[in-house]
Amino acid sequence: MSCPIGNDVSLAARLLREGRLVAFGTETVYGLGANALDAAAVARVFEAKRRPTFDPLIVHISNRDALGDIVERMPPAALQLADAFWPGPLTLVLPKREVIPDLVTSGRPTVGVRIPASEMTRRLLSEAGVPIAAPSANTFGRISPTTAAHVAEQLGDAIDYILDCGPCGVGIESAVVDLTEDVPLLLRPGGTTLEDLESVAGRVNVVTSSDGGSQRAPGMLSRHYSPRTPLVVADQQDLDNVTGQIGLLSFHDPVNRDRFARIEVLSKRGDLVEAAANFFAALRRLDDAGLDHIVATPFPMTGLGRALNDRLRRAAARE
Ligand code: TXA
Ligand code: MG
Repeated sequence: MSCPIGNDVSLAARLLREGRLVAFGTETVYGLGANALDAAAVARVFEAKRRPTFDPLIVHISNRDALGDIVERMPPAALQLADAFWPGPLTLVLPKREVIPDLVTSGRPTVGVRIPASEMTRRLLSEAGVPIAAPSANTFGRISPTTAAHVAEQLGDAIDYILDCGPCGVGIESAVVDLTEDVPLLLRPGGTTLEDLESVAGRVNVVTSSDGGSQRAPGMLSRHYSPRTPLVVADQQDLDNVTGQIGLLSFHDPVNRDRFARIEVLSKRGDLVEAAANFFAALRRLDDAGLDHIVATPFPMTGLGRALNDRLRRAAARE
């Protein structure tokens, strides 16, 4: 039986306090929340998502007052970034306090923390009165959810309540930035762009797989956000090799519509912000359309295009 969906913030907060699992919307994607201080509740999150325990969870708080209980210290660059982008789609990785269970951080000495922007989400966090650990509310490795219905489809049987906060405005996950060394390190491109981060913090390094990236960024697996339908990024592969019924995931209005059985246009006017908001829902619709292949056009490598290309590359990976 699928769990209830509703907009009862007080009920959702009470369930979280009782150690139950509640999915809720944020400005980025829907999260699957549990009391971050309750290791048994957190264990149920890993189980519900079928997520490997080497991949740590982000802790969500309603305001800066809660930060001192969770992290050891805020280096100057972290303070600058928090001042500029919180509440918002930015996760800061900082030295953790002992109260955060090892399961949340996969045994790391650091914890990822963020203050989400949506008003309803912050009301939930504030009423819950405890920090909330929440990964994206999808089965591990699959397409991220941007509506309550997406969550119900994949996880409805495994959780206690879905707080319907409406469709997510940003549409892709937060940027994850590690602040444990002198120069901030971007572990995952996301809703706060690299350009925005650099405008506040100066230089920001970007993690790569060749410089020990998988140790610093354990969740950045080459295959992720995966549709069941094989996906190819258009300029990576000659379209002549793509046969059968083809769906097109197009950044802007496509030049040629003839070859495609179904087309999803992310932003007619080629706007990256609009494209990001539509991205995961459009990918899901194509995945549900019974096609043989999905072809996706790449995004320009600026602004949110960096995060969108990252999601596309991992969604296209077969291994
Ligand atoms: O926008 C978001 O960040 C959403 C919403 C629900 O807040 N959450 C989300 O969570 O995307 P998840 O679990 O799908 O992705 C969290 C990412 C993973 O790549 C994880 O490895 C990384 O953040 N992460 C979390 N804590 C970390 C830590 N201590 N060190 C390094 N990476 C960390
Ligand atoms: Mg995720």
